[in-house]
Amino acid sequence: MTSSEFKKMISEGIPSVLPPPKPYDTSINHAPTRKDILSGDEKKLALKNALRYFPVDFHAVLAKEFAEELSEYGRIYMYRFRPEYEIKARNIDEFPYRSRNAAAIMLMISNNLDLSVAQHPHELITYGGNGAVFQNWAQYLLTMKYLSEMTDDQTLVVYSGHPLGLFPSHRDAPRLVVTNGMVIPNYSSQDHWEKFNALGVSQYGQMTAGSYMYIGPQGIVHGTTITIMNAGRLLNKNSETLKGKLYVSSGLGGMSGAQSKAASIAGIVSVIAEVNPGAIHKRHSQGWVDEVITDMDKLVERVRKAKEKKEVVSIAYQGNIVEVWEEFAERDILVDIGTDQTSLHNPWAGGYYPAGLSFDETNRMISSDPEKFKQLVKRSLVRQVAAINRHTKRGTYFFDYGNAFLLEASRAGANILKPDGEFRYPSYVQDIMGPVCFDYGFGPFRWVCCSNDPADLSVTDNIAADTLEHLMKSSPDQIKQQMVDNLHWIREAAKNKLVVGSQARIMYADAEGRIAIAEAFNSAVASGKISAPVVIGRDHHDVSGTDSPFRETSNIYDGSKFTADMSVQNVIGDAFRGATWVSLHNGGGVGWGEVINGGFGMVLDGTEETGRKLKMMLHWDVNNGIARRSWARSKGALLTLEREMKRTPGLVVTVPYFADDELIDSAIDPSTTL
Ligand SMILES: NC(=O)c1ccc[n+]([C@@H]2O[C@H](COP(=O)([O-])OP(=O)(O)OC[C@H]3O[C@@H](n4cnc5c(N)ncnc54)[C@H](O)[C@@H]3O)[C@@H](O)[C@H]2O)c1
Repeated sequence: MTSSEFKKMISEGIPSVLPPPKPYDTSINHAPTRKDILSGDEKKLALKNALRYFPVDFHAVLAKEFAEELSEYGRIYMYRFRPEYEIKARNIDEFPYRSRNAAAIMLMISNNLDLSVAQHPHELITYGGNGAVFQNWAQYLLTMKYLSEMTDDQTLVVYSGHPLGLFPSHRDAPRLVVTNGMVIPNYSSQDHWEKFNALGVSQYGQMTAGSYMYIGPQGIVHGTTITIMNAGRLLNKNSETLKGKLYVSSGLGGMSGAQSKAASIAGIVSVIAEVNPGAIHKRHSQGWVDEVITDMDKLVERVRKAKEKKEVVSIAYQGNIVEVWEEFAERDILVDIGTDQTSLHNPWAGGYYPAGLSFDETNRMISSDPEKFKQLVKRSLVRQVAAINRHTKRGTYFFDYGNAFLLEASRAGANILKPDGEFRYPSYVQDIMGPVCFDYGFGPFRWVCCSNDPADLSVTDNIAADTLEHLMKSSPDQIKQQMVDNLHWIREAAKNKLVVGSQARIMYADAEGRIAIAEAFNSAVASGKISAPVVIGRDHHDVSGTDSPFRETSNIYDGSKFTADMSVQNVIGDAFRGATWVSLHNGGGVGWGEVINGGFGMVLDGTEETGRKLKMMLHWDVNNGIARRSWARSKGALLTLEREMKRTPGLVVTVPYFADDELIDSAIDPSTTL
């Protein structure tokens, strides 16, 4: 396809002539059939909703076809409208546009749907089983068309994948405002999601799927490496090395697939159980997992040898994680660090495969007998926790890895609660990410080179490393370790060959670091050292972006972890300080109804105007969360805030007084406390 044909197809949006139907491509990974949740009348409504994207003369053909899709897959994806061209990140100037910032957004959307990046590309799912970019192909086509024709005096509004339209605004306003899954709080159960999504009126955007900020598995490899290294430091305060120690977890999917690679970068033996042979094959052929074992006896033997010889090896066990925990307990294999990364944010629709059922049996039962399936998931979780408890008694450090494991296990009745009703095990944010990273402003800053040229990425790597090195000279001791880890990461990043899709990079940085790096990029774009604009953004899984009581804000101890003011304020504040786009989501990570999260994208185009905006926006984007975390009495955040107030004129934050514990104890009648 020529470049002008590609541009023409994007600009056309929904084609004026009905394209031929597309065969279902069995060579790629597809989303599981979703639960049949709609009544007959609701099915009619779903059909009517889908047809409103198309001229009436298409309806006779499409009504039948969409009804079949709904009955077969539980959703109307409109497969026929999947475009003929390859969807992938391209040089920004290959997209048709009137606003170059809008073209950068097209690049980011395209990357999220790239066949080599997305988990279920034809169902428009980027990761996490249900992390959607759009609900159907009509929404994709229309959104790309709007972006191709919009000017810098318009803002595109997207409701859960549906492009509501272009609205007049102004140059300094965001070019795009996205919301995903925002529903009335009382209608935010798992089944509500199933229903609204089947009706075509809402979607689960995960974090970086529905906000067009996914950069492939690199982001999660980096975060997972940091987590495993810091878990090791918790375990083994005197020594840095994880040699000969064992990490056990599950999942080689979208995010979880990073675990084996990260474990090897951190230098620990890893066993990751995965029930899906396709997922194992993908990670093994990528070189992210070293060995695949299907037999438990062989696994036990191999792990013993690896530990003894202090090898750094990652092993995929093709089978259920419950079997691994149980057998390792039986056979006295000491697990040093343990966690779980099945998709328990989505337990009833394919996120968790219960022990005792084969992979194919599970896939059938999800839609054929959802009630029985639910019971089996619960029973399996109870067994899994019982086995994990045996290990932790022997010294395993177990943590929840942000997938709602503790939450769903407790709902299933597993022995996972302490007498005071709290979970037995911490979340990785409580123990690691919160106190080590978020409280100091460190979070998953990322960038994408809009030239799509690896040479530009290499220039940005060097700029980021030099900037960090310079900042490290005056950084306080409390954040030195983070600076060292990230400097090492960025210097090694190209060697680790983690770029899949767009030319992107991730690193953890604090407010000062993010601003300094972004300013340096903006200057390099201005001088031509970098050949095209650079998009900056972040995972929502950050200091200020996410209110999630069982994950990002699980280390907030003043009772406010069930509020969502921080994430909502964050998106509003980013929007008026200069973000190119913002997004606010219900769901993401731990599940629908359990979290509110948001993010931004900003195009660094080398102008002075952008230089001014980036300082203002990044400063707020981090310090909103620092201020909230200090108000919740976090010592790390208070220290960070103190530094920030000294160097930032105009920053005046309310700080807490600390009450004396004895005074508090004496003020409350002891018979009313636990
Ligand atoms: N670690 C993080 O920082 C982080 C970040 C974001 C999200 N998450 C959460 O981690 C979870 C996993 O994310 P993902 O993108 O990898 O999802 P995914 O659905 O792509 O992968 C999960 C994998 O687990 C496998 N699985 C399910 N049940 C199993 C079982 N009992 N035994 C063995 N394998 C089993 C599935 O086959 C699947 O391949 C999600 O809940 C996600 O929200 C974690």
